[in-house]
Amino acid sequence: MRQPLVIANWKMHGKGAFNQALVSDFLALLKEYRAACVLCPPTVYLGQVAQLLGSRDVMLGAQDCSHIDEGAYTGEVSAEMLRDCGCEWVIVGHSERRQYHQESDALLAAKLTRAQRAGLTPVLCVGETQEQREAGAAEHVVKAQLLGALSDLSDLKGLAIAYEPVWAIGTGLTATPEQAQDMHAFIRSVLREFDAANADALRILYGGSVKAGNAAELFAQTDIDGALVGGASLDAEAFAAIVSAA
Ligand code: G3H
Repeated sequence: MRQPLVIANWKMHGKGAFNQALVSDFLALLKEYRAACVLCPPTVYLGQVAQLLGSRDVMLGAQDCSHIDEGAYTGEVSAEMLRDCGCEWVIVGHSERRQYHQESDALLAAKLTRAQRAGLTPVLCVGETQEQREAGAAEHVVKAQLLGALSDLSDLKGLAIAYEPVWAIGTGLTATPEQAQDMHAFIRSVLREFDAANADALRILYGGSVKAGNAAELFAQTDIDGALVGGASLDAEAFAAIVSAA
């Protein structure tokens, strides 16, 4: 039995007063839920959000980490620094990082290792573009992304996967529950080939225009174990409803 996991990815949104209102409204609305919940604000607000969360059972995560331990790498933030700031999770290989920062599978493999070594649980993001789906290459692309990024790991312990079809991110287009389930089942089959002992315990999240109105039908699918939520996580009421639906 996999405990559902719902992660808020604020992306590059937020400001002191906004964050304070968002987190306190969200915590006040969060009543009955069985999901594990993680907030990933921009790095500079990790300390603020950690304080706002206090002793509540909501975890802190980062949106990215460096592939290097430490050194002269201006602007980079290491996995150990994130752990030191209270993070337990880190998103790795989001499609926006792949697209705007040319992050390769080899780089992501290094980030996964660094994150795990620092005591963080990485959430590896995979997903195909609209063109790749239309060309019938979605499974091929996702499998290559998985195997490329997992190449330095010996097993699947301490890891989660997020399937985020690029065409559904921030567009209002959501994969149908059946489309998402099909890909999640495919991902789990690839993971079983990689590490049969741990593939069934690993959580596979769906991401791409998840909202309060479509969360429940997505979560009802066998292999959808939660969500990585962008836009709707900036609305306390919507995000609390998504967490409660999981
Ligand atoms: O990390 C979150 C995903 O990119 C989904 O974003 O919910 O705004 O479509 P979205």
